[in-house]
Amino acid sequence: MHSDGIQISNLTFLNSPSWHIHPVYSSNIVIQGLTILAPVTVPITDGINPDSCTNTRIEDCYIVSGDDCIAVKSGWDQYGINYGMPTKQLLIRRLTCITPDSAVIALGSEMSGGIEDVRAEDIVAINSESGIRIKTAIGRGGYVKDVYVRGMTMQTMKYVFWMTGSYGSHPDEHYDPNALPVIQNINYQDMVAENVTMPAQLAGITGDQFTGICISNVTITLSKKPKKVLWNCTDVSGYTSGVTPEPCQLLPEKQPGTVVPCNFPESSIPIDEVKLQRCYSRRRLM
Ligand SMILES: *[C@@H]1O[C@H](CO)[C@@H](O)[C@H](O)[C@H]1NC(C)=O
Ligand SMILES: *[C@@H]1O[C@H](CO)[C@@H](O)[C@H](O)[C@H]1NC(C)=O
Ligand SMILES: *[C@@H]1O[C@H](CO)[C@@H](O)[C@H](O)[C@H]1NC(C)=O
Ligand SMILES: *[C@@H]1O[C@H](CO)[C@@H](O)[C@H](O)[C@H]1NC(C)=O
Repeated sequence: MHSDGIQISNLTFLNSPSWHIHPVYSSNIVIQGLTILAPVTVPITDGINPDSCTNTRIEDCYIVSGDDCIAVKSGWDQYGINYGMPTKQLLIRRLTCITPDSAVIALGSEMSGGIEDVRAEDIVAINSESGIRIKTAIGRGGYVKDVYVRGMTMQTMKYVFWMTGSYGSHPDEHYDPNALPVIQNINYQDMVAENVTMPAQLAGITGDQFTGICISNVTITLSKKPKKVLWNCTDVSGYTSGVTPEPCQLLPEKQPGTVVPCNFPESSIPIDEVKLQRCYSRRRLM
């Protein structure tokens, strides 16, 4: 907590009873080359949870867990709103994840301090419940915006895309029922998923649409027993381009016949310039 300039690299973390790596209120963090293993039957064993952190890079990690491989957070309901510290400038690359009952990358559900500028690329998911999942609810307030994901390969998934606007758990009775979350500018592109039960379950909040959703160049192959409804969209808006199977009407095809890419920022974020330091062990001094 409250730390600046952290490197966690080349380590294996095994069977934490709760979240494995949890930086909070911190900045300038590099997490690289970790193996995180927890039984897939045990929940709450999230891999890495950047929580109200700025300028974080997570790369070359292999995570097997009973909960989200990476879960991005920033405080819960009125507590997160009052503290007001977002997670921003987060870079995730070269992640391999197995999580049969959870998300490869989850945004929320504690997102009340805000989550912005998340960039993820080169992700491999195997036997996971969902690819990217946004979890929020009335009372959360805050926002999830400017999310960019590209280059994801998925094998055996329940959902590829999942957004939940009714993630109903609250810390206590004192949350503000008028605190509506803002979900906007969410970009997913260049993905292939095989053996998928349901391509997308996208549920915004009535009276508080999730907007600016872009999904481009995504090929999804269904499992032997897929859901009848392949794309279930409510209270969301945006567009798709070059996506199969055919998306829902709330995300119409942008320009039939051409694949229009989604946005992905060209400029880098500061943590991408930071070089890894070699960590030494004192053992060699003996
Ligand atoms: C579509 O995505 C694949 C990766 O899934 C990539 O190899 C290809 O270049 C992308 N096509 C376009 C037009 O961007
Ligand atoms: C496809 O997914 C089902 C679960 O939906 C799983 O039982 C099966 O082994 C998977 N098949 C392949 C080829 O991965
Ligand atoms: C579609 O989404 C709505 C809103 O979340 C939900 O009530 C409904 O059960 C879903 N239908 C299917 C077929 O998944
Ligand atoms: C991690 O381990 C690899 C292989 O042993 C080594 O080449 C690399 O320098 C290590 N990285 C750090 C940051 O210590």
